[in-house]
Amino acid sequence: MDKDIERVLVSKEEIDEIAKRLGVILTEEYKDKFPIVIGLLKGCVPFMARLITEIKCHIELGFMDVSSYHGGIESTGDIKIKKDLDIPVQDRHVIITEDIVDTGRTIKVIMDLLKYRGAKSVSVVTLLDKPAGRVVKLDPEYIGVTIPKEFVVGYGLDFDEKYRNLPYVGVLKKEVYSK
Ligand code: IMP
Repeated sequence: MDKDIERVLVSKEEIDEIAKRLGVILTEEYKDKFPIVIGLLKGCVPFMARLITEIKCHIELGFMDVSSYHGGIESTGDIKIKKDLDIPVQDRHVIITEDIVDTGRTIKVIMDLLKYRGAKSVSVVTLLDKPAGRVVKLDPEYIGVTIPKEFVVGYGLDFDEKYRNLPYVGVLKKEVYSK
């Protein structure tokens, strides 16, 4: 897999630091609120697993499977809920965990849905923020690192379902996705 990567953008060590930093902030913010930390599958898995071990207060976990990409490198804006939450969010504080916020469409749809279902608050924690890709107004409350508008893989992020298990985030060589 490493040979398909043009350069490492966020190293494993940097991701560790990000998880620790955000864990401290989230612990302080949510210590008396018993929030639901919702992961958006499948991209959330490595970062969510790392982050929650740095949150030092009670949390509940929930998962949704939402698709916005269909094998390519561009978001389509066509969001499908493939697996819904199995716990009610009414009157609960909710933290959505994402690998990356790009156009913002996916998170916006999910935020609106959770608010409509009566969540007391909805915030977003994301490992990566790609603000140059934004097409809807959305500012994640907790950001690991801001990256330029490039297609990245690793640490949950995929191209054609591959590379999610890379232990870092890297820029994929163009020749790989233009084949
Ligand atoms: P958005 O709706 O455009 O914000 O896209 C969010 C989803 O698109 C993320 O959860 C990823 O699955 C995917 N995505 C956005 N940018 C990238 C990227 O650079 N590499 C891989 N997946 C991406």
